[in-house]
Amino acid sequence: MTQPAFTPRVFSGIKPSGGLTLGNYLGAIKRFVDMQKGDCDTLYCVVDMHAVTVWQDPQDLRNATREVAAGFIASGIDPEQSILFNQSRVSAHAELGWLFNCVARVGWMNRMTQFKDKAGKNAEAVSLGLYAYPSLMAADILAYHATHVPVGEDQKQHVELTRDIANKFNHDYKVDFFPQAEPIIEGPATRVMNLRDGTKKMSKSGESDMERINMTDDADKIAKKFKKAKTDPEPLPDNMKDLESRPEARNLVNIYAALSDQSNEAVITEYAGAGWGKFKPALADLAVAKLSPISSEMSRLMADPAEIDRIMSKGAEKANEIAQPILKQAYEIMGFVR
Ligand code: AMP
Ligand code: TRP
Repeated sequence: MTQPAFTPRVFSGIKPSGGLTLGNYLGAIKRFVDMQKGDCDTLYCVVDMHAVTVWQDPQDLRNATREVAAGFIASGIDPEQSILFNQSRVSAHAELGWLFNCVARVGWMNRMTQFKDKAGKNAEAVSLGLYAYPSLMAADILAYHATHVPVGEDQKQHVELTRDIANKFNHDYKVDFFPQAEPIIEGPATRVMNLRDGTKKMSKSGESDMERINMTDDADKIAKKFKKAKTDPEPLPDNMKDLESRPEARNLVNIYAALSDQSNEAVITEYAGAGWGKFKPALADLAVAKLSPISSEMSRLMADPAEIDRIMSKGAEKANEIAQPILKQAYEIMGFVR
């Protein structure tokens, strides 16, 4: 099927479950800020309805929702330039999500690796929402006819499923209505790894706080965590290929590259032959220089939650204006009497 011309539009989201990490910043938020500079619409969403697929204490959910919004703004998302809002305020997400539950197939959901990882041996006891989550994510994207979805590596499969859902809808109803959204997974830090185990992703949850950098960590904590990060005894080589079997070393080089807006090749060339005694303090200084202004701005913003709520509510109005007509057409295509 040929793709009709859809206006380029960017959509992405982050769950307000726990605090934001350096993985969220480098894999997602920093890239959202870069994409805001282009000339297409950018929509950035605090996906609160995704967060409750696992238990969230209500007060924690409220705080985390505001904290993710504060993280967006403090990192450079301008609410005048981008549409910044929380998902539950725009009912089109849930409505289109239901329609997509009836398009997506159980077999597709069964292939989702994130579900398998999260459910583990406990698959019978997790919420039905956790299983249906990718179909809600497809609705987030397609309610805006978004064409570009900046995400970290771990979300690639979900964006591909979004394409399958759009295809099946278009095919079943013989329309060219939903676009094929493209995952945008770029740069040296699409998968930031755990600082204590370079084979695992850095995530919000995890046993030890030492395995991740939180966007709210102060300078001392950031420096300490990088200095204690697991490495190996070898100095840095002069090319990335030689880091293939050294996951922890590779991760730190990638983080340095992403924070300094350079390629990892440029970083490895600069630090060729350097030991950790030199590289780690340089990385810690760089991370503090980049993250401290963001974390202080986040705490400044968090001191006035009403202002954050006002921004999200205004964003939701704008989001709703785009999503409502698309949802209405989807209902009509399917034959609902409205
Ligand atoms: P989440 O916190 O799971 O809602 O993730 C929000 C965004 O951050 C998604 O685009 C993820 O792919 C991205 N992300 C989360 N953790 C990492 C990580 N360790 N490395 C790179 N990107 C990440
Ligand atoms: N599922 C994503 C994650 O866990 C968050 C998300 C929800 C998202 N809806 C989205 C990302 C739509 C991009 C587009 O990280």
